[in-house]
Amino acid sequence: MANKVTMTQFLIEQQREYPGTSGTFTMLLNDIVTACKQISHKVNRGNLIGVLGSAESENVQGEVQKKLDIITHEIMVEALDWTGHLAGMLSEEVDEPIKIPPQYPKGKYLVLFDPLDGSSNIDINLTVGTIFSILRCREGVDAEPEDFLRKGAEQVCAGFVLYGPSTMMVLTTGHGVNGFTLDQDIGEFILTHRNMTIPEDTREFAINMSNQRFWEEPVRRYIDECVQGTDGPRGKNFNMRWIASLVAEVYRILTRGGVFLYPYDSRDPKKPYKLRLLYEANPVAFIVEQAGGACSTGRERMLDVKPQSLHQRVPVILGSKDEVERIVKYHLEG
Ligand code: AHG
Ligand code: MN
Ligand code: MN
Ligand code: MN
Repeated sequence: MANKVTMTQFLIEQQREYPGTSGTFTMLLNDIVTACKQISHKVNRGNLIGVLGSAESENVQGEVQKKLDIITHEIMVEALDWTGHLAGMLSEEVDEPIKIPPQYPKGKYLVLFDPLDGSSNIDINLTVGTIFSILRCREGVDAEPEDFLRKGAEQVCAGFVLYGPSTMMVLTTGHGVNGFTLDQDIGEFILTHRNMTIPEDTREFAINMSNQRFWEEPVRRYIDECVQGTDGPRGKNFNMRWIASLVAEVYRILTRGGVFLYPYDSRDPKKPYKLRLLYEANPVAFIVEQAGGACSTGRERMLDVKPQSLHQRVPVILGSKDEVERIVKYHLEG
């Protein structure tokens, strides 16, 4: 395999370069990679194996679950709970933290994950993904809810896998962002996008425009200015994208810049925000910052937010630094 750097080789090279990353961490990451390969296989086969459509059940979020929401959740748990690396897990699909079964040893890491992101896209064959975040934990104990309620700045690793035209993994351990493409012939993730960085400036925004009448004034002002193009104060025209898969939006921004907003909206006073802090906003915020971008709630750096509850939702503004800083300025101006 001339100059094809596999994920395993990459992780071992990182371990040598950054002695802080332990061998167990490298093994844990390899276990997550194995789970995502299994998920890729299921997602790619779709209705050939009857995994599409609704499970007719509801999760803690009040969402009707897709069959694949549950299948991918189970794949993640079964790939990780026996490894001895974890003190517990948290999943979008289950209310309480997932305990390590008593017959398995407990480790010093926590994995928080969204097993299938963008699942509303699965039945229309559009890109979906898996998002994961890794925190260190007290050793040899059953993790309690408060062990998970840690600021995003404490993450030791964050990544996501895109199940799209190609299956890709994007990963950071705090030393930049690297992209890997799954070579289906050999079943290995190969390093294809070394040291990904987000252009500081952009002409592309991503937001669900159907919520426009429910936004706060700073967001309405920012989007209005983008839409006014050369006729408005920005003096340049913008393009718009909305894929409804956070992972796909973030990957697009990593490759060509842009800004993504899922802000506060007043549609449902009980649910003013859409995205979840611990296993959506924090992992993508870590990745985006490591790639030279920014991620904010509009009023606070995402990685500084102190979580109050496991499935807490937050407003998310992320992407090219200049645009995020402009939007934050508009929020501060009120
Ligand atoms: P999930 O499928 O894990 O519940 O997440 C879906 C999220 C996110 O991926 C995406 O950006 C957003 O929901 C799309 O929201 P709308 O359907 O309101 O556009
Ligand atoms: Mn969901
Ligand atoms: Mn999601
Ligand atoms: Mn999900």
